[in-house]
Amino acid sequence: MKINGNNKYLLDKLIRLKKERNAVILAHYYQDPIIQDVADFLGDSLALAQEAKKTNADVILFCGVHFMAETAKILNPEKIVLIPDLEAGCSLADSAPPDKFRLWVDAHPDHIVISYINCSAAVKAMSDIICTSSNAVKIVESVPAEQKICFAPDKYLGAYIIKKTGRDMVLWDGTCQVHEHFSEMELINLLNKYPDSFVLAHPECPDNILQYADFIGSTSSIIKEASKRKENRLIIATEPGIIHQLEKVAPGKEFISLPGLNGCACNICPYMKLNTLEKMISALENLEPEIILPEDIRIKALKPLERMLELS
Ligand code: 13P
Ligand code: SF4
Repeated sequence: MKINGNNKYLLDKLIRLKKERNAVILAHYYQDPIIQDVADFLGDSLALAQEAKKTNADVILFCGVHFMAETAKILNPEKIVLIPDLEAGCSLADSAPPDKFRLWVDAHPDHIVISYINCSAAVKAMSDIICTSSNAVKIVESVPAEQKICFAPDKYLGAYIIKKTGRDMVLWDGTCQVHEHFSEMELINLLNKYPDSFVLAHPECPDNILQYADFIGSTSSIIKEASKRKENRLIIATEPGIIHQLEKVAPGKEFISLPGLNGCACNICPYMKLNTLEKMISALENLEPEIILPEDIRIKALKPLERMLELS
């Protein structure tokens, strides 16, 4: 990542403030490269939750989206958890408003509720187990075969798990606005042009994309798999922010980011990209925006999260 004069000034200021506040910067792979490079820890949702649980810092500056920062707060009530931009949401989390989710849960009293971590604390509080893209199959398989399951909020991840495990699950009708818009046509064109390429996809993609994937996994596992591949050309069906790390772990390879439908820029997560160095500095200076949770919700949400961490 090239550092210009203005960035250098901002980075120096950020690092000084981080020290003063005894803060740690956790960041997701979809953040801008400059944020990834200044972070103390980078990871997928599971690794970020695990790291948040064990940090000794007084302040967690979470460069990701709201549900990720909220997860850090659920696990660390005594710490100050900051997010550079409170508007950094997630279409999956937004697809499951707590009042509607309550009705859905109540309509399935004999089902266990497994929720993808991309949901609000209120939804977590109504769930029995949380999962992420890196442990979803394992978590579902840990549930006895005769136990009925409701899975929320990502219907495509849910469909992928059903295919992998053979388990029947009732699915919530939610999607990620980034992963649902990858273009199958573009993927076919790329595969015709580069038949020797290798396709890596995130399980939030619909099946019409996943059917072409040679590897399906979380952002961390996509990076790990790419670092081991012999192929020189890799097609990436997830948010292109990940390419910054891919180029680090597998230099010299060509990474092709799968475009969205009709050439739109919808393969870029607009929420993740709201975070900037300026907003990170402001968050550390002012200790806000801070994630605040009602304690009753936090305690209820902690249970299914801890269940996931024990099973991971
Ligand atoms: P990962 O946990 O695989 O990083 O996924 C998070 C996410 O929001 C993907 O869109
Ligand atoms: Fe949510 Fe999709 Fe953005 Fe991930 S990429 S944070 S699932 S909107």
